Amino acid sequence: MANEREKEAAARASLRFINDGQVIGIGSGSTSACFIQMLGERVKSGLRIRGIPTSDLSAQQAASLGIPVTTLDECPEIDVTVDGADEVDPQLRLIKGGGGALLREKIVASASRQLVIIADSTKRVPVLGKFGLPVEVIKFARAVVQKKIEVLGARVILRQNGSKPYLTDENNYILDCHFGEIADPERLARQLSDMPGVVEHGLFIGMASVVLVAEGNKVDELRGRR
Ligand code: A5P
Repeated sequence: MANEREKEAAARASLRFINDGQVIGIGSGSTSACFIQMLGERVKSGLRIRGIPTSDLSAQQAASLGIPVTTLDECPEIDVTVDGADEVDPQLRLIKGGGGALLREKIVASASRQLVIIADSTKRVPVLGKFGLPVEVIKFARAVVQKKIEVLGARVILRQNGSKPYLTDENNYILDCHFGEIADPERLARQLSDMPGVVEHGLFIGMASVVLVAEGNKVDELRGRR
């Protein structure tokens, strides 16, 4: 419950980054769901924005709240994206993709002038890697990529949905890669990006402009370089 309150507090703090007339990237996951709920309330009271959701689930929630949505085809430049994270380190490097939406999340983040990350206190870590790093792979390449990631030292688990492999919105698989502490996230990011069959990985490096981390009743604002 404390986490829920922190998620809400972080989401509420992100609203001050949203202005009338903007195109807003809409994140995925439970913290983003709090943000979408609050954004819907602002839209009801007259805020005019257009949203670009990062997952089918967030798109459904936005639609149910009457938030106008658009596409990257219509608006390839986004003013602000608000999204959650699974881990945040002191350099504001992130692990994302616990909800499986990392591919669209990273594309939307890369098209955004500002990326505002909202998180409860459990997401703040000294070193990334306790959370299994999600890596999205095309089905054909699953076994080959899995072996290569195991050679890098990770325990790799194909994400499941009941008795079947989990499928992303883009119809790919997710490998959850447990490295333990990731000593050099930049190097690992390059190694993963270089593997044929890897569509995207959940390391978001140099992307966050601001991280809003709720700790109890206060929200810390950490500023990135971007
Ligand atoms: C979705 O794919 C993720 O990147 C989420 O942003 C991340 O998993 C955080 O989710 P919660 O807000 O549910 O913790």
